[in-house]
Amino acid sequence: MAQIFDRKFNTWARVSMALAVLFAVLLGVALDRSQRSPWVTRQQLRVAQPVAFSHQHHVENLGLQCLYCHTTAESSSYAGIPPTRTCMNCHTQIWTNAQVLEPVRQSWATGESIPWVKVHDLPDFVYFSHEIHVNKGVGCTSCHGRVDQMQQSYAQQTLQMEWCLDCHRNPAKYLRPTDEIYNMNWNGPSAGRPVWCAATGDKAGQPTAETVDCAATEPSKNENEISPLFGQIGITLPKYQKFVSQQELGRFLVERYKIRSPQDLTSCEVCHR
Ligand code: HEC
Ligand code: HEC
Ligand code: HEC
Ligand code: HEC
Ligand code: HEC
Repeated sequence: MAQIFDRKFNTWARVSMALAVLFAVLLGVALDRSQRSPWVTRQQLRVAQPVAFSHQHHVENLGLQCLYCHTTAESSSYAGIPPTRTCMNCHTQIWTNAQVLEPVRQSWATGESIPWVKVHDLPDFVYFSHEIHVNKGVGCTSCHGRVDQMQQSYAQQTLQMEWCLDCHRNPAKYLRPTDEIYNMNWNGPSAGRPVWCAATGDKAGQPTAETVDCAATEPSKNENEISPLFGQIGITLPKYQKFVSQQELGRFLVERYKIRSPQDLTSCEVCHR
């Protein structure tokens, strides 16, 4: 080799090889970053919708419930986007001449649905269902953020596999009583704001879960007065436990909702069927 290539060339070869390796590493880092960047995941991205619909106006100001429009969030895999009819319940009377509502009126007149742009869109090879999450204590805000404060819809989370797995490895961090699912302000219990919960039997429609009743004030005060009587006729009243942290409550709910183990919940077949 030495006869054909001189010393100088050898150094160049080494330098360029080192540069090539460096370049490959940088490219890898850049690709990895871009996979997680909002540009790829569309996280936080505001998309232009055919109608400037505002959740803030309709949820925070008017007080409409999520289920009023997303009627199947509890009962099917899809939460669903409301049909124009739902809007016309009000908009045949309110803001009937507003220019911003022209596409709504047009859709109503022609019967063609409004072409809403999807904000969240998992790839087809991923199985997801709203029903199980909502019925097992995962609130809308855990996945969608403060929708009630959004003037324009956007995705709060990346929806990448790592995000799903983070919760599936330890759902206790996020679980709440099912009657708090739509509460946009839920922050979990704390020492200053405890929560009392009791299991009250099997949950209809969810054979593996128990119904959990929770209250923000201690319920056992009345219970103590009447329970001896109930005891005599063979009725045991639910026993309320006090929780002062999300961790305690989460552990209780994991048990009561009969949440599968992290091993089961992170196995590939759960989401890739
Ligand atoms: C008055 C009807 C109405 C109410 C009430 C309502 N929404 Fe919506 N929602 C819509 C419409 C219309 C869209 C589609 C347009 C858009 O993305 O803003 C939508 C879109 C969404 C999306 C994004 C869907 C996508 O494309 O991925 C989420 C998430 C959502 N709503 C959650 C909620 C939550 C949570 C509540 C309760 C706090 C709620 N909505 C209450 C009408 C409503
Ligand atoms: C319960 C009654 C009700 C329903 C249902 C309803 N709206 Fe409204 N909407 C209102 C009222 C009231 C206003 C005026 C809000 C304001 O100015 O505070 C309004 C305002 C609007 C505006 C004007 C911009 C804004 O947000 O102030 C748009 C656009 C709109 N609605 C679209 C829709 C669409 C699309 C649907 C169906 C998905 C819908 N609305 C369903 C009552 C309703
Ligand atoms: C465990 C996370 C999670 C929870 C909890 C959750 N969502 Fe979703 N939501 C998603 C994902 C993921 C998608 C995208 C689904 C897809 O692309 O197939 C989505 C999509 C939607 C859509 C778009 C239409 C559809 O059905 O795909 C609406 C509307 C919506 N969610 C509303 C809600 C409401 C209202 C709640 C609370 C009752 C809620 N979501 C709770 C993760 C969640
Ligand atoms: C904040 C917590 C949380 C997040 C985020 C979350 N999940 Fe879940 N998921 C749960 C819980 C809790 C269950 C119920 C487990 C049980 O009952 O054993 C569940 C169950 C499931 C199931 C089982 C459904 C069935 O019928 O067997 C699927 C599939 C699933 N999740 C998919 C996803 C996907 C895909 C994502 C991300 C796009 C996701 N989840 C994000 C908490 C979460
Ligand atoms: C809790 C749900 C969940 C589980 C469990 C899960 N995945 Fe995924 N997986 C997803 C989601 C969501 C995506 C789509 C990510 C995206 O769009 O960026 C995905 C994407 C993928 C992809 C496409 C490449 C990529 O990263 O986008 C592969 C390959 C994959 N998963 C393999 C697996 C394997 C192997 C397992 C078991 C060890 C597994 N997944 C378990 C939710 C899950």
